[in-house]
Amino acid sequence: MLDLDRVFGRPAAKILEIGFGMGETTALIAAAHPENDYLGIEVHTPGVGSLLKEIGERGLTNLRIIQHDAVPFWRDMIPAAALSGVHIFSPIPGPRSASRSAA
Ligand SMILES: C[S@@+](CC[C@H](N)C(=O)[O-])C[C@H]1O[C@@H](n2cnc3c(N)ncnc32)[C@H](O)[C@@H]1O
Repeated sequence: MLDLDRVFGRPAAKILEIGFGMGETTALIAAAHPENDYLGIEVHTPGVGSLLKEIGERGLTNLRIIQHDAVPFWRDMIPAAALSGVHIFSPIPGPRSASRSAA
């Protein structure tokens, strides 16, 4: 299980976003709410790269990314009680893998 306060280096509200796509909305929300910490999970490699670029250019310290299937992540790696909220925008349900997504 992840210790999210340790990952972000502070106690703050933690919001998980599942399937952030290219991450434009994720970056805007994180920039608008520096009081919260945001953890985005996505399998799509171009989206991960795009959001990493945004994080660097905007200097965001309250946004982290995991490239992984959200289904086992949710089941095994995240203590749901540690989250203040979950964002899911325009979801496509079902298990995905990085290689399948990139094909
Ligand atoms: C329709 S797109 C929406 C992207 C973004 N939320 C938006 O509103 O523009 C759905 C996204 O969810 C991701 N996704 C779908 N299933 C996933 C899973 N099991 N784990 C991680 N990401 C997933 C896809 O790769 C895709 O980028």
